[in-house]
Formats: sequence, structure tokens, C-alpha cells
Amino acid sequence: MKVVSFVNMKGGVGKTTLAVNIADFLTKRNFKKVLLIDVDPQFNATQCLLNGDDYVRYLEMKGTTVIDIFDYGKTSTSVVAGISERKTLPYDKISPYSTSRGFDLIPSRLDLFRFEMAPGQGTENRLKNYLNHLRKQDEYDICIIDCPPTPSVWMTSALLASDYYLIPSKPDPISMTGLDLLEGIIKERKDNYGCDCKCAGLVLTIVEKKTIVYNKAVEYFSKSLRWKDHLYAPVVSKRTDIAKGQLSGKFIFDIDDSELKKDFSDIVLQFLRRVEE
Ligand SMILES: Nc1ncnc2c1ncn2[C@@H]1O[C@H](COP(=O)(O)OP(=O)(O)O)[C@@H](O)[C@H]1O
Ligand SMILES: [Mg+2]
Repeated sequence: MKVVSFVNMKGGVGKTTLAVNIADFLTKRNFKKVLLIDVDPQFNATQCLLNGDDYVRYLEMKGTTVIDIFDYGKTSTSVVAGISERKTLPYDKISPYSTSRGFDLIPSRLDLFRFEMAPGQGTENRLKNYLNHLRKQDEYDICIIDCPPTPSVWMTSALLASDYYLIPSKPDPISMTGLDLLEGIIKERKDNYGCDCKCAGLVLTIVEKKTIVYNKAVEYFSKSLRWKDHLYAPVVSKRTDIAKGQLSGKFIFDIDDSELKKDFSDIVLQFLRRVEE
């Protein structure tokens, strides 16, 4: 099982859209067994896969969420009055949700915000440990982690657990300046936490091909020693159908647009080549 985090320090660059649609294509076109983990407290990937009512029902039935991985909410009071100890949920009790798209999901929760972990407790290793447990079960080929746009413990946990990180970016100057910041943060995590994930490339998203900013961005990345080998040639074009479909369970796979789907399936093939080598 290869684990890939989708990261960018900017929000709104298409991370979640790329993550859920790559998971979907990998399942439907490439017949891969895929697990998607949503570690963003804004839970947008979860919303793409579970509608509001189903999500509330899922939580009421105590379905697994990322909080179970990170070990929170499982406190118990010991026989010694007043002392409460945290109980770790056994890994085999953490069972992903089977989505209607054919891949599995570990949903996020808004209240993940309240559980920002204190560094140094080792909790940031728990996602990695859980994924090592899943590796032994040999159930999944690829695990995709959708990260929040903040250098949070959730992002650190994801990077620590990952073999690769993939960067979705909009091709505009402001989004592009954020890439250096991202690289700095990844380097810091490598130095301080010993994570050794490699770059699985840079995918341009929400692209309007005929614009000057897009052409300038491609020129910049193609010449940049840092980025030219990482840049995917196919891009995700801007399409209102993608945004509109997101809350009604419609994916790129379902949109009647052959150019969009051809580009997307080329992105997925490149992705596989990079992470399966
Ligand atoms: N290719 C696209 N074309 C049109 N809208 C898009 C596209 N990709 C993403 N969006 C929209 O842009 C917004 C941000 O995308 P999202 O994937 O949530 O970004 P992030 O996860 O980086 O915050 C969402 O409203 C989404 O529907
Ligand atoms: Mg997102």
C-alpha cells in the first residue's frame, strides 16, 4: 500500500477535489483498492461522499472517524476516583466507511478543531501506526490523505504516515508563491520528525487554458529546476460542473466531457507511475 498526502498551504486550490476524484478514478478505471482519509477539520472530502443526513446518522451510530485514529474522546474513569485515563481504540475496531463510489473513507469531523494535539505526546505517530496495521492486512493498494491548508498536527501526522506528497496548485502567482512556503514546511517536518516522504508531483488545477496567467505559470514551472520534473503535463480544467456536482455526489467520472475525462485519466496514470515505482 502506497500512502500519498495531498498538500498545499493554500485553501481553495483544488486539493479535496483532486483527492476525491483520483480516489474515484483509481477505483473505477484502474481497479485499485483505495482508502481516502480526510484529516481536514473542514471535512469537505467527507461531504463529497456522505450527504448531511447520512453523515449525522453515521456519527450517531458511532461510525469511525479520524478522531478514533487520533485517540480522542475515548476517556474512561479509573477505579481510583477522579483519575481518568485515555483509552486507545484497538486498530481492528477502526473500520473505514464503504462509500457508494466503491472506495473506503475515514471521515473527518468538524470538532477535530477542538482536539488540536499537544506536540510531544507521540500522538502524531498514530496515523502512521494505524496505516502500518492496514499494510499488514493488505487490503488497500493506495491510501490518499486529504490535508488541511494549515501546518497543523494533522498535516504533520499525514506527512509522517506518507510515502509521497502530491501538490495541487492553481496556476496563479499568489498560489505559486505558497509553494516555497510548503517546501519549507515539509523540509522542517523532515528535519524535526524524520519523515521521508517524496514528492509525487505538482498538478495544476482549476485551470483556464487560454489565459495569460496559466501560460506564464507553465513557462515558469517548465524552466524551474525545482519544479520541471514534478509538473504533470495534463491539468484539471476549470469546469462549473465539477463544483456544482460536488454536493450532489457527482464526480468527474460522471461528467459528460471527454476532454476533461481524458486529461484526468492521464493525470491518474502519471500519479500511479510516480507512486508505484
Ligand atoms: N476544476 C475545477 N473547476 C471548477 N471548480 C473547481 C475545480 N476544482 C475545485 N473547484 C472548486 O473550487 C473550490 C475549492 O476546491 P477544493 O477542492 O475544496 O480546494 P481545497 O481542498 O484546496 O480547499 C470548491 O468550491 C470546488 O468545488
Ligand atoms: Mg480541502
